[in-house]
Amino acid sequence: MRILVTGAAGFIGSEYVRTVLAGGYPGFEDADVTVLDRLTYAGNRANLPGRHPRLAFVRGDICDLPLLLDLLPGHDAVVHFAAESHVDRSLEAASEFIRTNVGGTQTLLEACVRTGVQRVVHVSTDETYGSIEQGSWTEEWPLQPNSPYAASKAASDLVARAYWRTHGLDLSITRCSNNYGPYQHIEKLIPNFVTRLLTGRTVPLYGDGSNIREWLHVSDHCRAIQLVLTRGRAGEIYNVGGGNERTNRQITDSLLDLCGASPDLVRHVADRKGHDMRYALDDTKIREELGYTATVPFEEGLAATVAWYRDNRSWWQPDAGAGEERPALTGSVR
Ligand code: NAD
Ligand code: DAU
Repeated sequence: MRILVTGAAGFIGSEYVRTVLAGGYPGFEDADVTVLDRLTYAGNRANLPGRHPRLAFVRGDICDLPLLLDLLPGHDAVVHFAAESHVDRSLEAASEFIRTNVGGTQTLLEACVRTGVQRVVHVSTDETYGSIEQGSWTEEWPLQPNSPYAASKAASDLVARAYWRTHGLDLSITRCSNNYGPYQHIEKLIPNFVTRLLTGRTVPLYGDGSNIREWLHVSDHCRAIQLVLTRGRAGEIYNVGGGNERTNRQITDSLLDLCGASPDLVRHVADRKGHDMRYALDDTKIREELGYTATVPFEEGLAATVAWYRDNRSWWQPDAGAGEERPALTGSVR
């Protein structure tokens, strides 16, 4: 078994590959892994083992068709994580999101068809559904993305569907809720706040903090992806939820507690443009069809995540502003 994993120098893909290499997925203990990653600002080679007998790392772009046609032959499956992933960045500069998330996905799938790859999982997101006031989204919910990031992911899902329907590519799509855990880039809510609180800085809470996200530990997400890879049906979408709905204010309060920081460090800043109010997934399908359950209790996973950032300052400190106040990325568009 030989798999190619795109975007695995990032947060979720690196968790997936570290677990494959550690023998954490039954049947894949001997799998060889090729990682294809462009190493954008979000990719960090150090998120993966430097040397491993079953790992090959290729720095490259999923938009590069000749590279893909050269690389893919001999691979049995592709797990596609590579993307521009941060909503705030997509508000300021959307074109890279369209290039990588839409064009890159199309190029990758085209190369998979041409080289005869047998199985593909396209990793997508609940944000494609938009925002929901009450209840939760099933896989049949219409796509109503609100940010350029979400729109680019929704478009990539449609491209993926078309490659299944038109070319018969054996492909499934996952749509997951907000992930948390170690190795997440410090631009995202939880690591941003943890690293700021650990260095005595204020945290920028958008709006009144009442927006709700559904949180899932990254290891549970990756286990779900592996289930879909091995047992998911072609042409199907699988929601992956955590069931842990929290307002951003609740998350902030938990992090203040875990970091032993003063509530005075919370700074209410102008809201994100087009800020989705609530995400909530119905993941009955993956639970009933593939036997998936989330295993990491949220409060335990959050405490372990804070401990990881506390114990691994060298991983994040070079980027963290060395204790200085930095304007939030979205400051100029507010
Ligand atoms: P991330 O930003 O941490 O990592 C993205 C990786 O993709 C980086 O290593 C980057 O270098 C690489 N990359 C970017 N453009 C590339 C290109 N053109 N060619 C090759 N590599 C490229 O992202 P993440 O949070 O790990 O998310 C991974 C996937 O999961 C994304 O598709 C995202 O949409 C999806 N997702 C994320 C979450 C979440 O909460 N983070 C939830 C659901 C789904
Ligand atoms: O739902 C899945 C999505 O979750 C993924 O598809 C995305 O790749 C991932 O980035 C994440 O998107 P969000 O926009 O929900 O995540 P983010 O961490 O940027 O923000 C979470 C919430 O916290 C959101 O309501 C905005 C708020 N926030 C965020 C930051 C960075 C703040 O209040 N302050 C901040 O500084």
